[in-house]
Amino acid sequence: MSITASEISVKQQGCESLGGIISAKTARIGVVGLGYVGLPLAVEYAARGFETLGIDLDKEKVLRLNAGHNYIQDVPETQLQEVLKRRTFRAEDDFSSIAESDVIYICVPTPVTPHKDPDTSYIHSATTSIAEHLRPGQLIILKSTTYPETTEGLVQPILEKAADKHNMLLGRDYFLAFSPERIDPGNKNFNTANTPVVVGGVTEACTELACLAMQQVVEQVYPVSSPKVAEMEKLVENIFRSVNIAFVNELARLCDRMGGVSIWEVIQAASTKPFGFMPFQPGPGLGGHCIPIDPYYLSWLARRYDFETNFITLSARTNEEMPYYVVDAVLRAIAEQPISLGQAKVLILGVAFKRDVDDTRHSPAYTVIELLRNKGVKHICYSDPFVEQIRVGKDQGTEMKHIALTDKVISDQHVVVLMTDHKAFPYSRIAEEANTIIDTRNAFKHVKHNRDKVRLLGSGSF
Ligand SMILES: NC(=O)c1ccc[n+]([C@@H]2O[C@H](COP(=O)([O-])OP(=O)(O)OC[C@H]3O[C@@H](n4cnc5c(N)ncnc54)[C@H](O)[C@@H]3O)[C@@H](O)[C@H]2O)c1
Repeated sequence: MSITASEISVKQQGCESLGGIISAKTARIGVVGLGYVGLPLAVEYAARGFETLGIDLDKEKVLRLNAGHNYIQDVPETQLQEVLKRRTFRAEDDFSSIAESDVIYICVPTPVTPHKDPDTSYIHSATTSIAEHLRPGQLIILKSTTYPETTEGLVQPILEKAADKHNMLLGRDYFLAFSPERIDPGNKNFNTANTPVVVGGVTEACTELACLAMQQVVEQVYPVSSPKVAEMEKLVENIFRSVNIAFVNELARLCDRMGGVSIWEVIQAASTKPFGFMPFQPGPGLGGHCIPIDPYYLSWLARRYDFETNFITLSARTNEEMPYYVVDAVLRAIAEQPISLGQAKVLILGVAFKRDVDDTRHSPAYTVIELLRNKGVKHICYSDPFVEQIRVGKDQGTEMKHIALTDKVISDQHVVVLMTDHKAFPYSRIAEEANTIIDTRNAFKHVKHNRDKVRLLGSGSF
């Protein structure tokens, strides 16, 4: 639908009035999905005095938040309590109040289906709920990571269908943009405020307003020409990591076969080059909500264009092989001891997907535990100061609980497998007490004694 000259002036007014209340900090913010992405964003706005409504369908989360109990590591509980006290933040478990919000962020999950196709059902559902309450003067910003064309191909039609009933025009009466999230849970240096963000609106007014909205909580905002560019840019960021990690994972395996060359020493040496090189570390496989998933979003889209993203697919597969490679090393370490698989005791150190976080989503530790169980290893336990319990097995039917690292616990094991290099692990003591250590992260690098017990990925001893 094209916009006429008189509509343009109305459009400018609509844009200006929303822009005006954003600048005056009287705009009301809505955040849909209060997880790792949505909650820090909502609390950031609320802390800066914006009246902020958080919506999550998980009633339990909503209850906890309204009672001042935070569940996201990066959000200080005191900050949550402060914004509740100032009444700039509240959480609800339905969309009945969403019409109040002038700027609405969508921060819902974007997983893959069992066949590794994109599952955009959460975006669809959240958008449909917002569309039911759509009114003039609202700006919707999608933040969930997704394939290019989602904003304009999925979100926009749902909003337009609702808007048409009230003669509302996109870019004049309401606004839509995509702005990917870059939060890095557990990162002490970068947070919502000091991590630059990219914004691409469906129209120029959409981009301008979305930039203005983001500038209220983020120091640096970088506009791009369309939501597609912003969607693609986010995938490129994450696939860049996936491809480079796959590269060093492959080289780690080569070093293991060659012997006499440690991939870790090689990477450290290469890092002395001050330009044209960026270090990536090998490991037991990818985890988290983003890097194991996002490559599949782009390769799925590429197939729609009759295009095969060989590079991306190969990298994803190389990374997915790593837990299997780790399990082979564990089984070899068991086989060298006078013990059967059924009697062997294995301790997994770390089940979070990365250092010093409590997020276990897609953690390779699950795959390692599962594969070991399938091979007949019955006595598996884990220690992770950040994760009290996990569920493994078919339909996640088996509960495992974190155990404290006493000397006896460590020395009782036939194999200790370091999966996550949490800073809190007592590495020297573990090396002292353990029989055999499978180190997938070079976590024991500073341990001088008992080196003969450590089988380090990518060093020839694995
Ligand atoms: N976690 C990260 O580090 C990170 C970083 C960058 C981007 N992302 C992306 O951000 C998005 C959100 O990720 P996350 O880690 O915050 O997920 P999350 O699972 O921690 O949180 C999502 C929340 O959305 C809620 N939800 C689901 N459907 C809903 C609906 N229809 N209405 C309201 N609430 C709903 C869930 O209950 C959950 O609390 C994903 O697309 C992810 O890929 C995540």
